[in-house]
Amino acid sequence: MFEFDVQHRDGRARVSQFQTPRGTVITPMFMPVGTQGTVKGLSPQELTDIHSQMILANTYHLMLRPGELLVEQHGGLPEFTGYPGPFLTDSGGFQVMSLGHMRKITEQGVVFKSHVDGRRIDLTPERSIQVQEALGADVIMAFDECPPFPAERDYIERSLERTVRWLERCLSVKSRPEQALFAIVQGGIHSDLRDHSLDLTLPFETPGFAIGGLAVGESKAEMYPAVAHTASQLPESKPRYLMGVGHPEDLVAGIALGVDMFDCVYPTRTGRFGYALTDDGRLNMNSSAPRTDLSPIDPECDCYACRHYSRAYLAHLVRAEEMLGPRMLSLHNLRYLHRLVERARAQITAGTFQFWAKEWAHRYFRGSL
Ligand code: GUN
Ligand code: ZN
Repeated sequence: MFEFDVQHRDGRARVSQFQTPRGTVITPMFMPVGTQGTVKGLSPQELTDIHSQMILANTYHLMLRPGELLVEQHGGLPEFTGYPGPFLTDSGGFQVMSLGHMRKITEQGVVFKSHVDGRRIDLTPERSIQVQEALGADVIMAFDECPPFPAERDYIERSLERTVRWLERCLSVKSRPEQALFAIVQGGIHSDLRDHSLDLTLPFETPGFAIGGLAVGESKAEMYPAVAHTASQLPESKPRYLMGVGHPEDLVAGIALGVDMFDCVYPTRTGRFGYALTDDGRLNMNSSAPRTDLSPIDPECDCYACRHYSRAYLAHLVRAEEMLGPRMLSLHNLRYLHRLVERARAQITAGTFQFWAKEWAHRYFRGSL
């Protein structure tokens, strides 16, 4: 289980198969975010139709509501949500920092007030693993601390060392061999701190490694070198997951740097705000051009929205605030990112990835300017 077979390489980019208990996934892949056990607005059938592979769910939200025991009573996330494929759960630390009130971090863990009902909650590495075992995802994440940006170097260093002690505690209570626990490398945008985190984290030999602590407010000129530096030191033979990253250009850049897995709320969130992703950049459905445009969002796209609706109809739905609008834009945007990684995989397989990536970026940025 959790075998990771690299099948093609092109530069640092690779195409691989990753075996999980609920099915084999092909990487590079983009994971839709289903924070509350649902990818906002979309049914499991729709996710299957657009070739989603693995869905991300959040420990933080599900432990607060409805509680992990209810999910466990259903048999786990696939039975609870109706999505039959593989799941990954994030560990909660990151979400506490972005959503919890009155949080306090100590060596023991994080204490915070629930954003749902104000209850005092203790989240520790042990508790995160207990919840993630009850939720039953195929891949679970180590409980870590993701420092805000910017943060003091000193703080980032002490924090990444604590994250390693938390990793040790996660591994010592983890009891289910059918779940893979991925460690998370931290260190902000400092290459020496990334090295320090790698030195302490790699010896645990977890079945996959995540690059955390990025896309938290730094520029892309700061993020890409940190990804390059970290990814190049992760084992060739294990999946590499860049957490919380998922603008189209970040997928293309991340894949070039050897990243295998991505997740981000971007495609669904920007869809709810009325934007459609295309090879020519991001199309604002609230602007005037789409209002009278009888063509689909993207004639090449095979999603339901592109096969059935004009830009004009979708722009009408958005302006009329009909819920089909954000649903169809979320569906299209997810399909766009899945197609983007599918195209990247085909180019890697053909040995033409670099050339394709340059052409793709040229068109994407020309369109959006
Ligand atoms: N999601 C985005 N970044 C991070 C991170 O650094 N840690 C965790 N646990 N989740 C994330
Ligand atoms: Zn489409």
